[in-house]
Amino acid sequence: MKNSVTPFSIRKYDNKEYSDSSIIMEKDIKSIGVLGGSGALGTGLSFRLARAGYKVVIGSRNPDKALKKISTINQRLVKEKISVESNYESAEKSDLVMLTVPFSNHREIIMEILPAVQKKILIDTTVPLVPPKVARVQLPEFGSVAKKAQEWLGKEVHVVSAFQNVAASHLLGDDNLQGEILVFGNKKEAREIVIGLIQEMGMKGWHAGSIDNSVVAESMTSVLIFINKFYKMKGSCFKIVD
Ligand SMILES: NC(=O)c1ccc[n+]([C@@H]2O[C@H](COP(=O)([O-])OP(=O)(O)OC[C@H]3O[C@@H](n4cnc5c(N)ncnc54)[C@H](OP(=O)(O)O)[C@@H]3O)[C@@H](O)[C@H]2O)c1
Repeated sequence: MKNSVTPFSIRKYDNKEYSDSSIIMEKDIKSIGVLGGSGALGTGLSFRLARAGYKVVIGSRNPDKALKKISTINQRLVKEKISVESNYESAEKSDLVMLTVPFSNHREIIMEILPAVQKKILIDTTVPLVPPKVARVQLPEFGSVAKKAQEWLGKEVHVVSAFQNVAASHLLGDDNLQGEILVFGNKKEAREIVIGLIQEMGMKGWHAGSIDNSVVAESMTSVLIFINKFYKMKGSCFKIVD
């Protein structure tokens, strides 16, 4: 684990593939906005990113309340503390943005931050769960949430889908996680950057294809919730083996 940022420089990749639509990807990623970061998944991801040396800015509808919610996490961080802003400000100030909000709020927040995420990577973690039957796959009519996000955001935003199958409770521990992360997105270079971040957070990520494939991970969450309930497990996960 590092104490300071070793930024990912996209310059090591073939710049030609990006044309002029990927300006942010030519910059080093130092700051990460975690929208909904006061929640279960976002808190764990923010903790691991800050511990890896990134400047984490949580986005919240109520920054004062969110800052109180994450105070114990900030106490555990030795160097860089996590700050909290509005969702828009967090997205605007960050080099890369993560979306960790409930499905019910997914479209609204995407529309709100759309101008602030242009030419950036946006990691979408959303699972289209429909309470109360969360152990049942209930995809929306349009199918994949991440694919829809890419459609709404347009080609100038690089949507990468990941983390749908991680149990939030595991992220707050200090250990590396056994469960592995499937990473989807239309730009290989954007997926590569996210896989690098995942590694720095103490996990293993896998290239799992284009955003079209994200529907598999979005559906798998309900299967894992069912397994957790049936076998009384705290957070089942999976590993890719050869
Ligand atoms: N929990 C997990 O283990 C897990 C695992 C994999 C994937 N996911 C996915 O990750 C996303 C976040 O999950 P979560 O469990 O972290 O959710 P959560 O704790 O219920 O909510 C996350 C945050 O979203 C913000 N938010 C914005 N609009 C909201 C609304 N209408 N209702 C409630 N909160 C709202 C809240 O922050 P502010 O009040 O500060 O704005 C809240 O703290 C979901 O799409 C979920 O399916 C979760």
